[in-house]
Amino acid sequence: MNSVLITSDIRAALTEVLAAIPHDRLFILTDDTTSRLCLPLLANMPAVAAAAHIEIGSTDAHKTLDTLADVWTWLGEGGATRHSLLVNLGGGMVTDLGGFAASTFKRGMAYVNIPTTLLSMVDASVGGKTGINFRGLKNEIGVFSLPHTVLIHTPFLRTLDAANICSGYAEMLKHGLLSDAAHLESLLAFDLQRLCHAVAHPSPEHEAAAAALLQTLAEQVGTSVRVKEQVVEEDPRELGIRKALNLGHTAGHAFESYSRRQGRPLLHGYAVAYGLICELYLSCVRTGFPTSLMRSVVTFIRENYGSYDITCDDYEALYELMTHDKKNTSGCVNFTLLGGVRDIRIDQLADRDAIFDMLDFYREGC
Ligand SMILES: NC(=O)c1ccc[n+]([C@@H]2O[C@H](COP(=O)([O-])OP(=O)(O)OC[C@H]3O[C@@H](n4cnc5c(N)ncnc54)[C@H](O)[C@@H]3O)[C@@H](O)[C@H]2O)c1
Ligand SMILES: [Zn+2]
Repeated sequence: MNSVLITSDIRAALTEVLAAIPHDRLFILTDDTTSRLCLPLLANMPAVAAAAHIEIGSTDAHKTLDTLADVWTWLGEGGATRHSLLVNLGGGMVTDLGGFAASTFKRGMAYVNIPTTLLSMVDASVGGKTGINFRGLKNEIGVFSLPHTVLIHTPFLRTLDAANICSGYAEMLKHGLLSDAAHLESLLAFDLQRLCHAVAHPSPEHEAAAAALLQTLAEQVGTSVRVKEQVVEEDPRELGIRKALNLGHTAGHAFESYSRRQGRPLLHGYAVAYGLICELYLSCVRTGFPTSLMRSVVTFIRENYGSYDITCDDYEALYELMTHDKKNTSGCVNFTLLGGVRDIRIDQLADRDAIFDMLDFYREGC
């Protein structure tokens, strides 16, 4: 079984999943934030009473070989075998690193993901890409290895900060664009700023609004994660249609790397949101994506994500970052574009002039 389950009762769901997976020893991996904010939701559960807890530092700075070696060491010292089970409780950093640790320890033990950020619920915890950063390169070392089960419990989002909620929501916008117009419309109609405000300022006064918005978000998370699941099911090794998931990411990764280089780092989803502006514009020009819909998405992104300011002096560096890993001999860049919602066009090449025009639009056209 490889399944994604959405639950409103994480304790019951986890108890059931653990009973269904034969294992000799149980380990729970968290980072120092999810230990504090998420692990207490599993406290005093008989099914996890005997579990050994492994904690690592939070954020991508710890998605390293050293941390991986620590996890392997703790597994070894805790008596883990190939028949043991690892539960990863955290964001994409924990599910990526924990999934890789489990998949390589003693040639692979089973693991379960319990994603606790919006980005990991709709994206990182699903699809079997695991790994670590290495020598400054993101996700340089890793394997494809599916979790036994992914358990999504949206109430974990109550403690997530506004920026990480917006970051995950950008991947949901991408899934909306790849799937169907009605889902996209509901995403664009959602009051993301109000949710962020309600979550950032928990109070009895905001509680009803927060609960209602989180309920709507939970439904959207369910639809969104199915989009990723379906694409991955069709093409688990990214040989073809899984490239659809790169929408917004060619330009997005360039913004992400450039922002780090400039010392004003963007969260991944913010970079993807700006990448979507660029690539939807390119889709209008190249593949006939409807301009009015592009404008609606761009307006939503501008309102909720602000902007990452660039000038024409930044174009060359951004272009070079885009060509970095996706270059063909003529210096063109390979994009995933859309002819409309769900009308996916992979392997679309754009040259330097087209990319500069796209950046003009990003800078001025919206
Ligand atoms: N495997 C994939 O297909 C895939 C896809 C996308 C991203 N990723 C990876 O995912 C990672 C990014 O994931 P992320 O955005 O979840 O980042 P993250 O795991 O670093 O989490 C972001 C921050 O939120 C904290 N946090 C987690 N859950 C929380 C909660 N419920 N309440 C409060 N704080 C909480 C974390 O401790 C961390 O400080 C990157 O390493 C990226 O490479 C992987
Ligand atoms: Zn992404």
